[in-house]
Amino acid sequence: MAESEELPSAHHAEPFATRLLAWFAREGRHDLPWQRDRTLYRVWISEVMLQQTQVTAVIPYFERFMAQFPDVAALAAAAEDEVLHLWSGLGYYARARNLLRSARLVVQDHGGTMPDALEALHALPGIGRSTAGAILAQALDRRHPILDANVKRVLARWAGIDGFPGEAAVVARLWQLSEQLTPTERAGDYTQAIMDLGATCCRLRKPACARCPVSADCVARRDGRQAQLPVPRAQRARPLRVAHWLLICRGDSVLLSRRPADGIWGGLYGFLEAVDAPSLRGLAASRALRADVLLRPLSPLRHGFTHFELEIHPWVVASADVVEAEGETWYNLCQPAALGLATPVAALIAQLRAEQNLMVAVSGV
Ligand code: ADE
Repeated sequence: MAESEELPSAHHAEPFATRLLAWFAREGRHDLPWQRDRTLYRVWISEVMLQQTQVTAVIPYFERFMAQFPDVAALAAAAEDEVLHLWSGLGYYARARNLLRSARLVVQDHGGTMPDALEALHALPGIGRSTAGAILAQALDRRHPILDANVKRVLARWAGIDGFPGEAAVVARLWQLSEQLTPTERAGDYTQAIMDLGATCCRLRKPACARCPVSADCVARRDGRQAQLPVPRAQRARPLRVAHWLLICRGDSVLLSRRPADGIWGGLYGFLEAVDAPSLRGLAASRALRADVLLRPLSPLRHGFTHFELEIHPWVVASADVVEAEGETWYNLCQPAALGLATPVAALIAQLRAEQNLMVAVSGV
């Protein structure tokens, strides 16, 4: 937007921020756990959890995380397995690994005190420019513009900004608009207000324009283009990938292996994996299971990732002979260790546990 160009709200009696703050006082969320005791540490953890995850899903994870790691020193001293265990089910596990790396950097480079300068926060792994701004605005009431997916949607619609908001030119324009609209007073409330507006009124589908405080001068609303803005990413088909998993059971335990740090679910524990059924047989044989071993298939599972869909074929085998290798552990179904487990791994473990309980009930042991 050119400097001289008028903002739409110039035609409206009340500025954008004033209307948004009045709406926030009436209809915004005020009782979220990270809105109490707003330290940089608590707001940081909440903002990272809220990247790509809904508020209602985040709340119990946030409470458990704070109970276990009440401050940055406690987090920095944690083992990665503990952090991934607390993150299990929340998804996008790089966020958890980055939190731990950041906490250790804060201890190492900032004497254990969370930095309160935008650049220092932004330099930590997993903290982008918008997240750094959101943390400082909410914890310290400093004026910093933000631009997460919700805010992009609100601003693209309100100002009628065309183009996919992942393109550099469109992003630059949205940042400029966010900067212009962010007020000097009550920056923390404003930041929460615009995110809440995006989450509750200016939703991706079926926006509730009748309840929106800035609909009077919203360009998308005026032109009936709410469904077209923001312009979506050009559709790419999500390819389907297949994995075959070997669930080796021994008594009350099942064999889990730590996944490589750089792949999907890096650092979490999972089952031994092969690309197809013949390779899985080969894997089973190579682990000293007999070549004619009975592999019992379970129903396939599907798991969606951002860039692909995974179809999982689980195979169960009982063996007393397998010896664990480096990075592997016997996970006891009755006394589970605190490890990070991806959602489909946790689901299969629950299934094994249920089968085992049934066997115990039937045999009367
Ligand atoms: N998404 C990212 N941060 C958020 C917040 N503070 N409230 C609601 N949604 C968010």
